[in-house]
Amino acid sequence: MRVGGEPHRTIWVAPDGWSVRVIDQTRLPDAFEVVTLTTADAMTRAIATMVVRGAPLIGVSGAYGLCLALREDASDASLERAVLTLAEARPTAVNLRWALERMRAALAPLAVSARVDAAYLLAAELADEDVATCEQIGAHGATALLDVFRARGERGALRVLTHCNAGWLATVDWGTALAPLYRLHDQGVPLEVWVDETRPRNQGYLTAWELGQHGVPHTVIADNAGGHYMQRGEVDVVIVGSDRTTRTGDVCNKIGTYLKALAAHDCGVPFFAAVPSSTLDFALRAAGDIPIELRSPAEVSERPGVRAANPAFDVTPARLVTGIITERGVAAATEPALVAMFPERA
Ligand code: MRU
Repeated sequence: MRVGGEPHRTIWVAPDGWSVRVIDQTRLPDAFEVVTLTTADAMTRAIATMVVRGAPLIGVSGAYGLCLALREDASDASLERAVLTLAEARPTAVNLRWALERMRAALAPLAVSARVDAAYLLAAELADEDVATCEQIGAHGATALLDVFRARGERGALRVLTHCNAGWLATVDWGTALAPLYRLHDQGVPLEVWVDETRPRNQGYLTAWELGQHGVPHTVIADNAGGHYMQRGEVDVVIVGSDRTTRTGDVCNKIGTYLKALAAHDCGVPFFAAVPSSTLDFALRAAGDIPIELRSPAEVSERPGVRAANPAFDVTPARLVTGIITERGVAAATEPALVAMFPERA
C-alpha cells in the first residue's frame, strides 16, 4: 500500500541483504518510523511489544526472526531454541506457529551450512504468499460486500464497521478485513467506514491512518458506539480479521469483536470474518482451547488503587458469523464448509 504516495510493505530485508526492517507500529499514527532488527532477540521483543502486530505480519516476522537466529548459529539446537522463543512472543495468533513450523520443517533436514540462505528464501516466499493471499481475500470479500450493497439498492455509500486493525499494517500488504474495502474503493464504490477505536491499544487509529492514506472515508467511534449505530440502521455490514479460527468456524479476534457480532446478529447486520488459511487452526475444535493472551493490566489503567484485567482477544461463536472470507472464496462458518475449502489442511 502507499504511504505518502510511495508503495510500502510492512516488513522487508534491508539493502545489506540480511537485517530486517519493519514499520514501528507503536509510533503510528503520530510518526512513521522504520526500525532495523539485527537479532532474533530483537525480533522477539518487536513481536511481544507490538512494534509489529496483526496475525499474518507476526507470522512473517517470526520467519525472519528465525533467519536472524540462524545467522548467529545455524545448529539444530539453535533452530529449536529460536522456534520456541519466537513462538512464545505472542500466544493467540496461530500464524506465528504456522510460519515457524513451515520454516522448521523445511530447514531442519538441510545441512547446517545451507540453512541461512534457505531460511531467507523461504521467509521471502512466505511474505509474497501473504501478499497474494490478502489480494485474493480482497477480491472475494469485495464480491460479498457488493452483494450486501446491491441488496439494499446501492443507495448512498456502503456503510461498513470494522474492529481493531486488520489492514495492510497487520499483514505484509493489503490486509485481510480491509483488503475488500481498498478494492471496492478503487472500483469507485462509495464507502463509509465506522472504525472502532479498539481499547486498550487503540488499533482503530492504525485503521484510520491506513484508510486515510488510501482516501477511504471513515469515522472513528468509541468501542461502545457500534451497537447504537447498528440499531439505527447505519451499518450495512461488519467485517473483521481473525487471529485464530477453529475448524468449526469459531472466530478468535481482538477483544470486543464478540460484542460487535452479538449486536450485528440482533440487528440483522451481516458479520464477516476475513481469514487467510494461515489463520485457520484445523487442530482445534473447541474454542475454549484457544490460548487467549493476557497482556499487562497497565495497558488498561495505571490509576493508583485500580485493579485492571486485560484479555487481548475473544471468541465469536460460528453461529454469529455470516461467512468466512478466505483466499479461496467465502465459506460458511461450519466444519464441513471449511474442510471442503481446504481439504489438504484438514
Ligand atoms: O493485538 P493485535 O493488534 O496483534 O491484534 C490484531 C487483530 O486482532 C487483528 O484483527 C487480527 O490479527 C487479524 S489481522 C489481519
